[in-house]
Amino acid sequence: MSTAYAPGKSILFGEHAVVYGRPAIAVPIRQVRAQATVQAGKTGKGVFLSAPNMNWECYLTESPKGHPLRAIVMNTLSYLRVSAEPDIIVRVDSTIPIACGLGSGTAVSVAIVRALAEYFGIQLPREAVSELAFEVEKIHHGTPSGIDNTVIAYERPVYFVKGQTPVILIPARSFQLIVADTGVCSPTRAVVADVRSKWECDPRQYSSLFDEIGEVSWAARQSIESGRTNDLGPLMNRNQELLRAVGVSSPELERLIEAALQAGASGAKLSGAGRGGNMIALVTEETAPRVEKALRASGAAHVIVTEVASGTTDIHSADGT
Ligand code: MEV
Repeated sequence: MSTAYAPGKSILFGEHAVVYGRPAIAVPIRQVRAQATVQAGKTGKGVFLSAPNMNWECYLTESPKGHPLRAIVMNTLSYLRVSAEPDIIVRVDSTIPIACGLGSGTAVSVAIVRALAEYFGIQLPREAVSELAFEVEKIHHGTPSGIDNTVIAYERPVYFVKGQTPVILIPARSFQLIVADTGVCSPTRAVVADVRSKWECDPRQYSSLFDEIGEVSWAARQSIESGRTNDLGPLMNRNQELLRAVGVSSPELERLIEAALQAGASGAKLSGAGRGGNMIALVTEETAPRVEKALRASGAAHVIVTEVASGTTDIHSADGT
C-alpha cells in the first residue's frame, strides 16, 4: 500500500495576469491537503476509483471519458509504463474545500500521481509530477497558466512565469497570512474564460492592467527575498485595485477585504480566480487574532492562519508502507 499527500495553495500576487505571461507568486497552504492511497484490489476487474468526498466510486473502465480522476490515473499509469491495467484501488480524500481557490482539484491530481509512483516503486521528479497534473488542469480550467500544479508539486513558495522554469523563492524573513473563504463557489474555468473574452474585446486596456500586475509581482519578489515584508501589504492593496479593474472582485470579497484592513491587516486582496473563493490578508502575530475575529464576524466560511517560513525546509509528502 502507498499513501501520498499534496497541500493546498494560495496565489499571493499575479493571478489572471499569469495566464498572459506575466509573473505571479504562489505559496503552498499545508493546513489543508489531499491524500491518495493505492492498494491491491481484490476483484481482478482493474483500477477501482473511490473519492468519498466527491461522492464518486467506479471502475476506471466505466468512468466517463474526460473525467479528471480518470485522466490523471490513466496518464500516470501510461507515464509509469504500467502496461496491463493493474488490479488496484485508488482512494482519494481531501480536506481542501472545492472551488474556492485553494487548488483542491490540482492537489488531488498531485497526490494520486505520487501515490501511484510510490506503489509501483518509481521515483518521479517534481517536474514530472507537475507536468502530469498540468495536463489535467486543462480539463479543470481550460487555459491554465500552470502556477497551481507548480506550487502544489514543488510545495515551496514559487515565482512563476508561464513556460519558464519556476523560481523557488527563499523568504529572507517569515511572514504571516490569513486566508479566508467567502463561501461563494467560483469555478476558475468560468472566471478565466470571462477575463479572456474581455481581453479579446479590449486587448490594450487589459494588457496594460496585466503589465502593472506583473510589476507588482516583481516588486513583491524583491521584498520577499530581501526580507522587506512590510512592503508586501501595500503591494497586495495595489494588486487588489488592479484585480478590481480586471473585473474579478465581488461584494463578498470586498466585504472580507475591508474587514481585514479595518482590523489591522496591512494588505488584503482576493486570491485565485476571484468572484468568490478566497481572499488573503497580511498580518503579524499581534494583528492576526483581531483580523481572524473580524473575518469570522463578517461571514468568512473558513479561516486559515498560515506562515510563509523564512529559508527552506524539506518536505516529505509520500510515505510508502
Ligand atoms: C488560479 O489559481 C489562478 C489563475 O491565474 C488561473 C491560472 O493561473 O491558471 C486565475
